[in-house]
Amino acid sequence: MMRSHYCGQVTESLLDQEVEVCGWVHRRRDHGGVIFVDLRDHTGLLQVVFDPDNPEMFAQAERIRNEFVLKIKGRVRRRPEGTVNDNLPTGQVEVFALELEVLNAAATPPFQIDDEDINEDNRLRYRYIDLRRPQMQERLRLRAKVSHFLRNFLEHNEFLDLETPMLTRATPEGARDYLVPSRVHPGEFFALPQSPQLFKQLLMMSGMDRYYQIVRCFRDEDLRADRQPEFTQLDIEMSFIDEEDIMGLMEQMMVGLFKETMGVDLPASFERMPYAEAMERFGSDKPDLRIDLELISITDLMKDVEFKVFSGPANDPKGRIAALRVPQGASISRKEIDDYTKFVSRYGAKGLAYIKCNEVAAGREGLQSPILKFLPDEVVSAIIERTGAQDGDIVFFGADKAKVVNDALGALRVKLGEDLGLIQAGWRFLWVVDFPMFEYDDKEGRYHALHHPFTAPLVDSPAALKDDAENALSRAYDLVLNGTELGGGSIRIHTPEMQQAALDALGIDEQEAEEKFGFLLSALKYGCPPHGGIAFGLDRMVMLLSGASSIRDVMAFPKTQSASCLLTEAPSAVSEAQLRELSIRLRKPVTE
Ligand code: AMO
Ligand code: AMP
Repeated sequence: MMRSHYCGQVTESLLDQEVEVCGWVHRRRDHGGVIFVDLRDHTGLLQVVFDPDNPEMFAQAERIRNEFVLKIKGRVRRRPEGTVNDNLPTGQVEVFALELEVLNAAATPPFQIDDEDINEDNRLRYRYIDLRRPQMQERLRLRAKVSHFLRNFLEHNEFLDLETPMLTRATPEGARDYLVPSRVHPGEFFALPQSPQLFKQLLMMSGMDRYYQIVRCFRDEDLRADRQPEFTQLDIEMSFIDEEDIMGLMEQMMVGLFKETMGVDLPASFERMPYAEAMERFGSDKPDLRIDLELISITDLMKDVEFKVFSGPANDPKGRIAALRVPQGASISRKEIDDYTKFVSRYGAKGLAYIKCNEVAAGREGLQSPILKFLPDEVVSAIIERTGAQDGDIVFFGADKAKVVNDALGALRVKLGEDLGLIQAGWRFLWVVDFPMFEYDDKEGRYHALHHPFTAPLVDSPAALKDDAENALSRAYDLVLNGTELGGGSIRIHTPEMQQAALDALGIDEQEAEEKFGFLLSALKYGCPPHGGIAFGLDRMVMLLSGASSIRDVMAFPKTQSASCLLTEAPSAVSEAQLRELSIRLRKPVTE
């Protein structure tokens, strides 16, 4: 071994001993003829002292720069009084250098390791330097610890770790596919899996009973802080179970994970909320329950008012008018209201009406609002009563199609929570249940599966599903943590008849079904056990646990928001010869 100890291990217990340590130069300071180097490895920092009494070594130490890689042999001694650093585990001691070996020089790094505010493109381009930062080291260590715990838990519960293909057929999670051209079959393509959904179901049909996999998934979709084109799922499937079995086991897993990695005691079971209630109260299917603000429907109050902005949606079966009361919000300025109006317009809202409540008891006189003049007294007092508005509050309003109102006020609720410091500390888990089976897509003019087309409906006969597909609820469940969708799953359809009924409702005809997932439909005929499962976003889990604000910060080598890798400069052009081999011809750019 090149070293006797890690830097972070060199503490008072080693006083007067000789140690050999290796690491990177975090900082070099020259102090009146003495050189100090903070040596860094994955365990922390250690102060090394070079004394001019050894001129050869001292001269070498003078040439040391940040990020040089060193091996040092030295004696551990107590730091002189006044130079002790109580913030470091090694802060009581220093290593008096006896031998120095420069294992490698380093060019001046593009940024300082201990800078707080480094441009993210730079961090991604020089990721190997960025990952040296203690914060990134901690996050990746936590990630490894999380995977380790999850594997252990599942192995103990008789789950089999099984791999599924990466070169496969399009899978039905609803995003765009990444395609891989086949050389052997000119003009044909593999798709990278959006999830192992169909394979894990096939494994249940194969009698594997319980499966798990920590697996890469690929989705070509618009990226956000919590979305990457390739990400990692903890993917799980079980046979002969119902919702209670899997939700209960997953709760146990989360309780164990939080205890193990954070020392946090979670409740033994998590709250549950039907999808419809989540949308009604929070405008979102992943509500952040740490924020005490709620949407309150006032649609019924607005049917006959003169104000078209409100009466329009009130008389539209798909319309909604909702109020969002913010206690003590009357001090929000005109300028801030304008900013919030701009904010909600991103979600399609056409405006953001409000009432400021100065003195509720004074009636109309005590209120301040651009819409008061459009509303009769009894409606105004009904709003105040229903929202419970008090002196000093502000009430915001959204009026539009329910989807727009929910999206806009749901997002505003979270934004206000952040801006006004209303987010309570803690871990608020929530199961969202009773999702609709299908959602009407106005753009495409057809239904699509809210979860995926293999999710079982609550009704147990295909005829019942056919009768009222529009209002059918599914046996899907999502696990939400502090406003982030951590995972989602469902009990699956396990008979060919029900699968056909679900595909019919989606307008997928037999031929299309056969083409896309004929293999699954066929397998359903050969003895399929009742089964169900779930998949968690591992990146999101680690993001929340580590307090990072983006999943990019918990992935070693993530892609940018525009789905490229700055480190390797992928994607990139390839040679004509490679393309020819794949039977792909690029259309010439129009300008040529
Ligand atoms: P779903 O599509 O809900 O379900 O995905 C499961 C979980 O994966 C995470 N996730 C993502 N994380 C980062 N970047 C992305 N682009 C991304 N997309 C999804 C989320 C999400 O909750 N086969 C089903 C699961 C099942 O039914 O068992 C599925 O993939 O945390
Ligand atoms: P207007 O009469 O269009 O100036 O609107 C009066 C008030 O209603 C303004 O405060 C607008 O921001 C607000 N408003 C307009 N359209 C909507 C809407 N669809 N939902 C909520 N508030 C709106």
